[in-house]
Amino acid sequence: MAAEHGRSGTDRGPAVVTGAGSGIGAAVARELAARGHVVVPTDLDVASAERTAEDCGSPAAYRLDVTDPTEVARVVGTVVERHGAPGVLVSNAGISKMRRFLDLTAEELDATLSVNLRGVALCGQAAARAMVDAGRGGAIVNVASMAGKQGKVAFLPDYVASKFGVVGLTQAMAVELAPFGIRVNSVCPGYVATSMQERELVWEAALRETTIDEVRRSYVADTPLGRLELPEDVAKVVAFLVSDDAAFVTGEAVAVNGGAFMD
Ligand SMILES: NC(=O)c1ccc[n+]([C@@H]2O[C@H](COP(=O)([O-])OP(=O)(O)OC[C@H]3O[C@@H](n4cnc5c(N)ncnc54)[C@H](O)[C@@H]3O)[C@@H](O)[C@H]2O)c1
Repeated sequence: MAAEHGRSGTDRGPAVVTGAGSGIGAAVARELAARGHVVVPTDLDVASAERTAEDCGSPAAYRLDVTDPTEVARVVGTVVERHGAPGVLVSNAGISKMRRFLDLTAEELDATLSVNLRGVALCGQAAARAMVDAGRGGAIVNVASMAGKQGKVAFLPDYVASKFGVVGLTQAMAVELAPFGIRVNSVCPGYVATSMQERELVWEAALRETTIDEVRRSYVADTPLGRLELPEDVAKVVAFLVSDDAAFVTGEAVAVNGGAFMD
């Protein structure tokens, strides 16, 4: 068992990435492929996952709605059958919608928690079951956020709650899965230039009655390293966390935010 757990990240089994059609997920898929992983991109939008698969030389891409337990079980089963038990899972799929807490509806709260927290739990559970069955260990990275470490984030109360949940869930998963040689960590990005950020810029400018450029400037001003974060900045840290260089790291919430929030 111990020797098996010593296998390197790349020969343990394919790397499944959720929300891999865009932004951080696509960058993670490309970075893992560049480092020798067989990457299986998945996304709610299968066409976008297929584009990522082309970039990564992947054997396949799958539609996967992380909120649907039946689909999660089916896709993980298909991956095991066709490509082998996953050695890596990156639970990246997530959504956001900017609202004042006082204006948040029950439906909006449910939608955010369902994708960002329940989705991470369902995908982590299905992948971990396959990893345990295969007996070769593995590595899971959950994409949380700087908003998973501090609530002082404007207009994202449900998102903050979901990402604090991801950080806690990551710790619980890390404890239970450690005896199986499965490490579980989260990453906490800051202001990352993706389509999610483009949508947030529009909402925040409207809520603050200012311009998109002004909001973007405020993100940079809030970041000591002085620029917007790139999806690749996150992807490199995810790749480190699933590699054997991080063999003794589990249960961590690693900040990747240019210094925007330090804890
Ligand atoms: N952009 C940022 O500033 C930032 C900061 C911190 C954390 N994050 C987190 O990083 C992750 C990726 O965000 P991004 O900025 O790349 O966003 P994005 O909108 O560019 O990409 C998100 C991807 O998730 C997919 N997706 C949405 N709902 C899904 C579902 N139910 N099932 C499967 N896939 C689904 C989308 O189709 C999309 O391809 C999210 O978890 C987000 O919360 C982003």
